Amino acid sequence: MNKKSFLFTDIAGIKMKNPVMVASGTFGYGEEYKELIDLDKLGAIVTKTITLKPRAGNPPPRIVETAAGMLNAVGLQNVGLDVFLKEKLPGLKKITSTPVIVSVGGESILEYVKITEALNKTGTIAGIELNISCPNIRFQKKNTKLKGGIIFSQDEKITYKLVSRVRKATKLPLIVKLSPNVTDITLIARAAEKAGADVLSLINTPLGMAVDVTTRKPALANITGGLSGPAIKPIALRMVWEVTNTVKIPVIAMGGIMNTTDALEFFMVKAAAVAVGVGNFINPQTPLEIVEGIADYLKRHRIKRLKDLSLLKGR
Ligand SMILES: Cc1cc2nc3c(=O)[nH]c(=O)nc-3n(C[C@H](O)[C@H](O)[C@H](O)COP(=O)(O)O)c2cc1C
Repeated sequence: MNKKSFLFTDIAGIKMKNPVMVASGTFGYGEEYKELIDLDKLGAIVTKTITLKPRAGNPPPRIVETAAGMLNAVGLQNVGLDVFLKEKLPGLKKITSTPVIVSVGGESILEYVKITEALNKTGTIAGIELNISCPNIRFQKKNTKLKGGIIFSQDEKITYKLVSRVRKATKLPLIVKLSPNVTDITLIARAAEKAGADVLSLINTPLGMAVDVTTRKPALANITGGLSGPAIKPIALRMVWEVTNTVKIPVIAMGGIMNTTDALEFFMVKAAAVAVGVGNFINPQTPLEIVEGIADYLKRHRIKRLKDLSLLKGR
């Protein structure tokens, strides 16, 4: 890897050719996209969230298009840890040297820890992203009324407990993915930082709903789903701005990034890297077009490093 490359980015030891990644759940396990995009040119690949046991996900319909976005209630459908380690991870590592970040989900702190311990042993991954913010899985936490995958990102004490336990279990770069479904995201961001997170990523999907007026039923079998796409970009941008002004650790930004201008907006609020989500569904070349677009913008404006691309003072 050419370290002197103009867009080279090192985030907590994750060394990337450029600061453009693909967001979890929108790029499969990576290998599926090999005919559609040159994987070697991506900054990093974040896999679909893996859980300890395979999950079938929620019943259909689980995707619905909305104005400037889509709702999904996939519900963490994935092959489970064993198949991931035996097939998916080696398959991806065989075809690309791009850093692979594994997204981890769980229904208890112990599950997150167990998956992390197994990932430590692979020796081939660049980092772990804790998905503590999936809005589409339901379970009840013992002795609480809290339900769903996002419970770990909606209460700073729970976030702190989870992240500190996982922190003790690994030396790999640890990314914590936050939920926008909170009153004050900076509280959760601080808790994750204090517990030892190396990096934060945000946002996961805000909860939404759609109704089919023909059937007079919710459009999703799960009733609610996570909203993604251009519709959520202003929310994501506001939250990234709030978080980068609160914590010292780097932030990976996502939410409605479809083109270079979108990405630049996030860099201007101090994101260290960006990730493309549903943009991959519309045009799988989106991340690489953004890489070229950023390089072009920096050259045209004679800006030497992405770091220098902050907001200007005043209005
Ligand atoms: C179909 C679908 C599946 C997703 N699955 C996951 C997942 O497994 N883990 C995760 O952390 N985020 C998941 N996400 C959230 C995305 O990674 C991303 O945070 C979100 O979609 C916002 O970015 P976007 O507007 O660019 O899509 C999923 C999003 C979509 C649309």
